[in-house]
Order: sequence, then C-alpha cells, then structure tokens
Amino acid sequence: MTDKTFLPEHVGIIMDGNGRWAKKRGLPRNAGHKKGAEVFGEISRHCRDLGIPWLTVYAFSTENWKRPKEEVDGVMNLMRSYLKDMEKAKNEHIAVRFIGDKAPFDKELKELMEKAEKADVKDVVTTVQIALNYGGRDEIVHAVKSIVKEAALGNLTPEEITEDTISSRLYSGIPNVDLIIRPSGEERLSNFLLWESAYAEFVFMDVLWPDFTPTDFDAAIEEYEKRNRRFGGV
Ligand code: FPP
Repeated sequence: MTDKTFLPEHVGIIMDGNGRWAKKRGLPRNAGHKKGAEVFGEISRHCRDLGIPWLTVYAFSTENWKRPKEEVDGVMNLMRSYLKDMEKAKNEHIAVRFIGDKAPFDKELKELMEKAEKADVKDVVTTVQIALNYGGRDEIVHAVKSIVKEAALGNLTPEEITEDTISSRLYSGIPNVDLIIRPSGEERLSNFLLWESAYAEFVFMDVLWPDFTPTDFDAAIEEYEKRNRRFGGV
C-alpha cells in the first residue's frame, strides 16, 4: 500500500520499451505504441485515483523524428485518436497540457491539442502534461531566447535574472518533478525534464512500458517514499 501522506506531487514517466515489447511478439513497432497509449490512459486514471496532482509523460522527443516515417505517423495518429476521445473524458477529473515545440505539427493536430488544453474539465484532480516534440535542452534554449528578447527591449538586466526567470519560461507549468520513473531497464534521462529534475528521485524498472501496471506504479511510489529527500541539506 502506498502511504498517501508522502505522495509525490509531480511524477514524470519515460514510456520506454514499446518497440521491444512488439518485437518480442513478432508485431510491428506501432502495435507496441498502441498498447503503450492504452497503458498511459490507465496510469493517468490511477494517478487521479491516488490524488497525484501532476503527471508528465514523455510521448515524443525532439530526436524521435529520426525514426521511420511510418512509426512517426503511427504515434501522431495515436495522439489524434486519444485527443478525439477527450470529449468523453471530460468527467474524469483529468486535465491535459502539452509541453514541447508545437510548431512542426499539422493544423488538425494543433487544433486538437488546443481544444484539449482548453476543455472545461470539472474538479480537476490530476493534470497530465504530454511531452510531444519535447527536449529538455530545447526547452532551456526556448527560455533563454525569451529572456534575451526581453533584455534587448531593455526590460531585464543581467542582475535581475534568477532561477525563477528561467523556471517561469519553461514549457512545463511545474518547475520541479519529484519522481521520474523509467521502465524497460534503461537508466538514462534522455533529455527529459532536465531543469525540472534537479532534485528528482529516479526509479528504474525492468518491465517494458506496455506491460506496466498500476501495481508497478505503486511499487515506484513506495520506493520514492522510502528515500530520504534532503535537497542537498543535512
Ligand atoms: C519509447 O519506446 C516510446 C516512444 C518513443 C513513444 C511513446 C508513445 C506512446 C506510448 C504513445 C503516445 C500516445 C499518447 C496518447 C500519450 P521505444 O519505441 O523507444 O521502445 P524500444 O526502446 O523498445 O524500441
């Protein structure tokens, strides 16, 4: 059982292992992403049931464009169908936001993303941030550009720049992530939430994302709760 007193406020998940899951079954990689998207829905609802206010999932990185066109199209189509289903999910108390550079997406996807972000979700318990065309370095570059623009207008001096100046210009609305879970046996951050993870706990798990269950999520939370978080203090 997870102890609800010490729950993290913000959990990040690197949804890894879809390709390997599909390969093990002799299926196309997109079958792994499809199952992965279902698991994403299930875990979002589980976070809502636990009362975790923020969940950020890594769905597509700035580097993922290098994958075969068929695979990229497959992930974007999954995103489209998920967003088209959002209407039905209005009463699930889950709000959706996107983090990442939206510029390269087609008009239809951009409109669907915007509609989902503006949806009037009643009594929000969990806000899910979907990282799409997201890169942690890209996010910092984006923040720096915005600072330089303001400085060039004469509205900001170097002395006035603080951590908050950067935090407030990130794509992510939440500057700190408490726990990052990476399934699939890989132990890397892969350009996910670089700034936000400064004090995060990391839990790496051997299960592939399409096999990930609410029980695995609870095990990660229990591990998080066991660790002593001192933020660099004594
Ligand atoms: C990493 O596994 C996974 C991705 C790059 C895509 C993740 C996308 C989804 C789960 C679907 C997103 C849809 C919604 C609605 C959020 P991998 O392909 O790198 O796996 P591998 O390392 O085994 O090859």
